[in-house]
Amino acid sequence: MAKVKITETVLRDSHQSLVATRMTTEDMLPILSALDKVGYHSLEAWGGATFDSCLRFLNEDPWERLRKIRASVKNTKLQMLFRGQNILGYRHYSDDVVEYFVQKSIANGIDILRIFDALNDARNLETAIKATKKEGGHVQAAISYTTGPVYTTEYFTNYAKTLENMGADSICIKDMAGLLKPYDAYELVKALKETVSVPIQMHTHYTSGLASMTLIKAIEAGVDIVDTAISPMALGTSQPPTESLVATLAGTEYDTGIDLSALDEITKYFDPIRAKYLESGLLDPKMLKVDVNALIYQVPGGMLSNLVSQLKQAGKSDKLTEVLEEVPRVRADAGYPPLVTPSSQIVGTQAVFNVIGGERYKMVTKEFKGLVQGQYGKSPMDIDPEFAKKIIGDAERITCRPADKLAPELDELRAKIPQYLEQDEDVLSYALFEQVALKFFEYRKAKKYGLDAGIADAALGVHNA
Ligand code: CO
Repeated sequence: MAKVKITETVLRDSHQSLVATRMTTEDMLPILSALDKVGYHSLEAWGGATFDSCLRFLNEDPWERLRKIRASVKNTKLQMLFRGQNILGYRHYSDDVVEYFVQKSIANGIDILRIFDALNDARNLETAIKATKKEGGHVQAAISYTTGPVYTTEYFTNYAKTLENMGADSICIKDMAGLLKPYDAYELVKALKETVSVPIQMHTHYTSGLASMTLIKAIEAGVDIVDTAISPMALGTSQPPTESLVATLAGTEYDTGIDLSALDEITKYFDPIRAKYLESGLLDPKMLKVDVNALIYQVPGGMLSNLVSQLKQAGKSDKLTEVLEEVPRVRADAGYPPLVTPSSQIVGTQAVFNVIGGERYKMVTKEFKGLVQGQYGKSPMDIDPEFAKKIIGDAERITCRPADKLAPELDELRAKIPQYLEQDEDVLSYALFEQVALKFFEYRKAKKYGLDAGIADAALGVHNA
């Protein structure tokens, strides 16, 4: 029957969304074998912001984390989130970096790559999809879901068909902001099921309070797999709780086949971890309440907290409403990009500048210029040429696949840091997060030569938030 499969997000998106991606490998290891026994379709365990966070905040090698998880998870598929030509970073990388990153991700234990592009420009997925196929991985191509004048059901089905034709083994509806409403989800999933033959997965966030309802309507429309998080790390800006959905579907034609009592051990394990995050302040109770702004202003939860902190730093906290009203205008000017990393940061920061600068586009960030110029690919709607001229002057618009303009980078990068390369993967950490990776390599070296971690931390000014 139409059994529904579950992807558990506790090792990636749930802590990325709730506690700024600060869950350590040490907090994960004791529960991995229990997670492996549940019967999940997959564990989302790597990618997204976890890579950056390991290096930047936790003094961990992300590759080592992946190998450790793989060693304990023997039966369940491991899944990662991959930002197309951005990989796990914030700019476009050359094809040789993308290919090598995919190769090493799969070699170290990843089974499924969920690959998306912030602008839904399929050309930005080409290299990652081809590389995943070549390495024998499962390509899950994701649609960045958003709302706006261009985002009709037909827009999404056309994009899904394109992705299937490019080789996608499954399609994910990636609703990063929790904007997808239950009845819209029903219609979208129905339309997608009629358009493509590969499985459909639904990813959403609880931010706006809709997510469990949205999953149910998606399930009734025939969605194959859904993302949930174990309850201590669910709700708020995270995913809907796994236990509640499993209980809801038990005994119906959608039964997940997961035994609630098998989840009990996992719930109990994460309860004190949640308490620890609450106590340290990493988990802000504000993140747990229904955020109606997400529905009114269509901004993802993570973006909202960024805007709040940018305004606070500028001493302009009172301008939040004005900024939230400016975001959709900037987004319209930029051709209605979905708001997801990195476009959410680019649009959000520009909106802040437009408001606190007192005049729209008096100050324009380098990244916003890049977005308008086409450095990130093509926006879903055409950008008014006059507006573009105002932003980028006489600079030429980029209309090709942006990575076609990038020369191979790997050899040059390797040549820059021979003294730090302890494993093949190090060059990839360096390619993505140059300064942050160097700081980590120094830390690793200091530790290796007998300095204890505390001294290494102090010597290098490393912050462990
Ligand atoms: Co997400």
